[in-house]
Amino acid sequence: VIVLLICGSLRRGSTNAALLATARSMLPDGVEADLYDGIDRLPHFNPDVDVDPLPPAVADLRARTTAADAILVCTPEYAGALPGSFKNLLDWTVGDIDISGTPVAWINVSATGGAVEAHRSLRLVLTYTDARIIDDACADVPVPRSAVGEDGLIHDTAIRAAVERSLTALLRAAAAT
Ligand SMILES: Cc1cc2nc3c(=O)[nH]c(=O)nc-3n(C[C@H](O)[C@H](O)[C@H](O)COP(=O)(O)O)c2cc1C
Repeated sequence: VIVLLICGSLRRGSTNAALLATARSMLPDGVEADLYDGIDRLPHFNPDVDVDPLPPAVADLRARTTAADAILVCTPEYAGALPGSFKNLLDWTVGDIDISGTPVAWINVSATGGAVEAHRSLRLVLTYTDARIIDDACADVPVPRSAVGEDGLIHDTAIRAAVERSLTALLRAAAAT
């Protein structure tokens, strides 16, 4: 089983990235994490470029979404919307039938209870990809910057318990697919 982890923030020290790194460290035996790190190499989406041979960064993204049995997303909100670079990634997945039916969930780490519009938009965009949103696995788990340790991981037990619940629901859905 492969879980693709996609972060919508490019920031060094990102709380979203820390959540995903923490999730990766908590995966049970037999589940492999694929931490996607190519968001800043993707070209701007253009249907004219969405032809063979694909740009290498797009081919890499599609290979990884195709191989994934489940996808976990963590993204911030910028100015009331999804970050442009992450929306660009999503646009590259919309025409890709291989993501169709793949269980997907997100964890909203906004420490202020924000990022509501970004997640509303994420839900809408994901319906265009035909990925299968696993509601039980989606969660609001506020992560203050102070919760991220020197090792880049989150050690707070309540946060980790919430991540565990999400992963369990997502992996259950993946196993049933
Ligand atoms: C340009 C900019 C715009 C932002 N706009 C929003 C916003 O509309 N809603 C929100 O909840 N947070 C907003 N934030 C706060 C970010 O979501 C917050 O900094 C978050 O920690 C970023 O995630 P990261 O730690 O993974 O980089 C904004 C931050 C920046 C830099």
